Amino acid sequence: MSAAPLDIDAVRAQFPLLRQEAHGKPLVYLDTAATSQKPQVVIDAISAHYLNDNANIHRAVYALAARATTAYEHARKQVATFLNAPSEDEIIFVRGATEAINLVAQSFVRPMLKAGDEILVTEMEHHANIVPYQMIAEAVGAKVIAAPITDDGDLDLAAFEACITDRTVFMGVVHVSNAIGTVNPIEKICALARDRGIPILVDGAQSVQHGPIDLKALDCDFFAFSGHKVYAPTGTGVLWGKLAHLNAMPPYQGGGDMIKDVDFSGTTFADAPARFEAGTPNIAGAVGLGAAVEWLGNLGMEAVAAHEHAITEALVKAIDGIDGVRIVGRPKLRASAVSFLVDGLHPSDVGSLLDNYGVAVRTGHHCAQPLMTRFGISGTARCSIGIYNTLDDVARLEAALRRIVEKFV
Ligand code: ALA
Repeated sequence: MSAAPLDIDAVRAQFPLLRQEAHGKPLVYLDTAATSQKPQVVIDAISAHYLNDNANIHRAVYALAARATTAYEHARKQVATFLNAPSEDEIIFVRGATEAINLVAQSFVRPMLKAGDEILVTEMEHHANIVPYQMIAEAVGAKVIAAPITDDGDLDLAAFEACITDRTVFMGVVHVSNAIGTVNPIEKICALARDRGIPILVDGAQSVQHGPIDLKALDCDFFAFSGHKVYAPTGTGVLWGKLAHLNAMPPYQGGGDMIKDVDFSGTTFADAPARFEAGTPNIAGAVGLGAAVEWLGNLGMEAVAAHEHAITEALVKAIDGIDGVRIVGRPKLRASAVSFLVDGLHPSDVGSLLDNYGVAVRTGHHCAQPLMTRFGISGTARCSIGIYNTLDDVARLEAALRRIVEKFV
């Protein structure tokens, strides 16, 4: 489906932070994979919540509390709409993708895990989609298996399929690699899981902000993402899970708001989503998250993807054109992230030198050490783009990189 192009200058103008300079140069923010900047509409939603509607939710009958509860539950609906989720009751507010995956590991996978069982992931996972499974696997003598990727950084689908055995009890697969931008064929992967009756979690931390997600069509078992990477506040995120799974899972944390009845002889638990939202949640954060996904969704996710694809392609072309700079990972389909190395320079030095030109990139292993090991490196410098990035940002990055290469390589 083709989408009408966005007026990116108008979109960018909605991000006040981007108007600043760094070291006397216009800020070129190329670290959206680490965290996104926030549009005015999100800042205003949080501010309006604290100015007008702040009260605890689900607990009191006065008008202010009712408004706060309505705002929080409205955010759940906004997220469900954004993801085309079958039910808003399947939207669990958490602190971020990391907490979402830990919740699934502890409450869904752990109770069924036995010695010798296998949890299948890929070599390109973020640590958040590896370590929670390792923690539960070690306890019972189960294994975390990593499906291989190609030298270009694509998932080898045939090899992935070959890694599925009769001991595989769960799969956790990243939709888009945070380090090298690979877009995995997640529909095919979910179909493989479904055909074998193996539950699958999709780590959508780097995909929800870059293109349409349709959970009804994807038909995975769990989907996780972080709010702060989708133009929403830090400390927000979502676990989506099929209602039948969620209501069969033991709660992850106990406390207020997640119970039906408490008695010293025993406690019964609420159904999802309350079952997994013990304690006072990040109410204003959820309101901000709702505002963010509604704002982004209204831009049109096809149009967002088209704009970002063009900028990412331009970024790849610009970096490729500089002698002495090498891109790490050549996925067939890429979203947002472009990792690279500069001959003779440590990635963190590249990051510091780019900072002098006002260009903000992340450096290091990007919480994907097994992927770095696969490429025989310890880290990279990484550009990652968001909806506000323009060809001008690409030109400034290119000019800065060229100067660095001239001076230091
Ligand atoms: N996972 C985030 C990143 O890739 C923090 O930078």
